[in-house]
Amino acid sequence: MTVLRAKGFEIYKSWLAQAAQVRLVDAVRGVVKAAPLFRPETPHGKEMSVRMSAAGKYGWYSDQTGYRYVTAHPNGRAWPEIPDEAMQIWDALTGLDRKPECCLINYYDADARMGLHQDKDEADFRWPVVSISLGDDGLFRMGNVTRGGKTESIWLQSGDVVVMGGDARLAYHGVDRTRAGSSTLLKDGGRINLTLRVVE
Ligand code: SIN
Ligand code: MN
Repeated sequence: MTVLRAKGFEIYKSWLAQAAQVRLVDAVRGVVKAAPLFRPETPHGKEMSVRMSAAGKYGWYSDQTGYRYVTAHPNGRAWPEIPDEAMQIWDALTGLDRKPECCLINYYDADARMGLHQDKDEADFRWPVVSISLGDDGLFRMGNVTRGGKTESIWLQSGDVVVMGGDARLAYHGVDRTRAGSSTLLKDGGRINLTLRVVE
């Protein structure tokens, strides 16, 4: 395990050993069985390339009405509980008594990407966002708290965890591309990113 710092982002390389990654993926499979992945639409009416689901009291949702947190999956059912395996990562890396209310699940197939954006739909930016990578490598771009300016990129690999807190909490970030076939963790390939967020 090594910790890297870039633009205020804390990157815990290889935070999860292989066995822990397998357990977490199993837990995520349980979540998406109850709350299947779906493809949100941006407020501009474009389908996102990433497929999403969530666990916890809230899931993040987007359609032509805008971005927001919602308490039910599009199928009408409440989101499943946040897996313990994910909660333990939050506890270990943040040491906070405050627990996240959303574990957003992003699934990237070989062609998916996520444009530069800020995570700013939450009520209180004092709490960090914890981001867990599983499966194929993803090229993570880190920017600034305002649009534009210099960015830095790093390949996130399976088992890496990023903490976005402090100055990086509202920094722009995104995923330019993934490296298909770089990991054998997911039997059908692709990349999963989990983000733990305090919403209220
Ligand atoms: C996100 O910003 O929600 C996802 C980041 C990632 O996939 O690494
Ligand atoms: Mn984000």
